[in-house]
Amino acid sequence: MFLRTFSRDLAIDLGTANTLVFVRGEGIVLNEPSTVAIHESDHSVIAVGSEAKAMLGRTPGNIRVIQPLRDGVIADLEITERMLGYFISKTQRRLRTILKPRVVIGVPSGITQVERRAVRDSARHAGAREVYLVEGPVAAAIGAGLPVQEPGGNLIVDVGGGTTEVAVISMAGVIFCTSARVAGDAMDEAILQYIRKHYNLLIGERQAEEIKITLGSACPGGDRRTVEVKGRDLADGIPKTIVLDEEEIREALREPVMTIVETVRTCLERTPPELAGDIVDRGIVITGGGSLLRGLDRLLGQETHLPVTVAQDPMSCVVLGAGRILDELDLLKRVAAPA
Ligand SMILES: Nc1ncnc2c1ncn2[C@@H]1O[C@H](COP(=O)(O)OP(=O)(O)OP(=O)(O)O)[C@@H](O)[C@H]1O
Ligand SMILES: [Mg+2]
Repeated sequence: MFLRTFSRDLAIDLGTANTLVFVRGEGIVLNEPSTVAIHESDHSVIAVGSEAKAMLGRTPGNIRVIQPLRDGVIADLEITERMLGYFISKTQRRLRTILKPRVVIGVPSGITQVERRAVRDSARHAGAREVYLVEGPVAAAIGAGLPVQEPGGNLIVDVGGGTTEVAVISMAGVIFCTSARVAGDAMDEAILQYIRKHYNLLIGERQAEEIKITLGSACPGGDRRTVEVKGRDLADGIPKTIVLDEEEIREALREPVMTIVETVRTCLERTPPELAGDIVDRGIVITGGGSLLRGLDRLLGQETHLPVTVAQDPMSCVVLGAGRILDELDLLKRVAAPA
């Protein structure tokens, strides 16, 4: 194989739950959990991505599995840098390129200057030539195919792992944005707590996520399915199996789901009237992995009286939007800030 002599520019969605990398001219080349396993003693990295996530809840005391971005903010700067560096070099190795890439990174809209610098520096350390940061909701809206450059309000709701970001976007800028640190992770935690409280049974985070994905819902509908759940009985410490039905899971999810609905309502209440009028016509578009929770679109529709659509391929919207920004210099100038 010969080395490419031109650079392959990258778009990255640095998410709390998942990191995706898009290569210009190729598409999405990497999609892995934002997870790192390290040795407690010397902080050396043992595994990154899927391999590290598989270790969650199964490690001996000297190994720690970390999600360096928690609740939509960078909780561990150093590990985030290392993880991002690992993902970038992994894609660069694969592409066998020698010229340093330009990189557009989608970041949560509320990140601080210190966090912005950390993201930029880790991308530079990993070999980026130029780094641009774009606010997550703007990238999500572009990726979802909304006409964000035109004057006219678009309401985008991104329900990720750590945060729900709700933004009104017009003319390529965020007019108003609200966010809550309640999204997919909080749903998992709610399921875990429900089972603990009602069945005195302790389950793991990964298991809670699996239950949410297979059986979770925000609205009643369909048949009443059940799932077997294995965990550790808190009274006698012995492994035990229980059976849960859909309605119980919905009950467990009620609080985080209603927080998401309230966050959307708050944003709508504060939207200037002209733009609110546009939103009545265009409706709401939801993106992010959390938008796949069954019936969330229906519930949001009932609660806001607006049409709600789940974007196509909702978990890829941010990275695809960032990818389009790479392609269109004009868009890059308007929505992304050089870091
Ligand atoms: N079918 C599904 N039903 C419900 N939730 C799902 C489904 N598929 C994935 N999820 C959840 O989506 C979340 C991850 O979504 P996503 O990859 O958009 O988050 P992220 O971008 O990494 O996080 P953030 O945007 O908060 O930084 C996880 O909590 C995951 O459990
Ligand atoms: Mg996200």
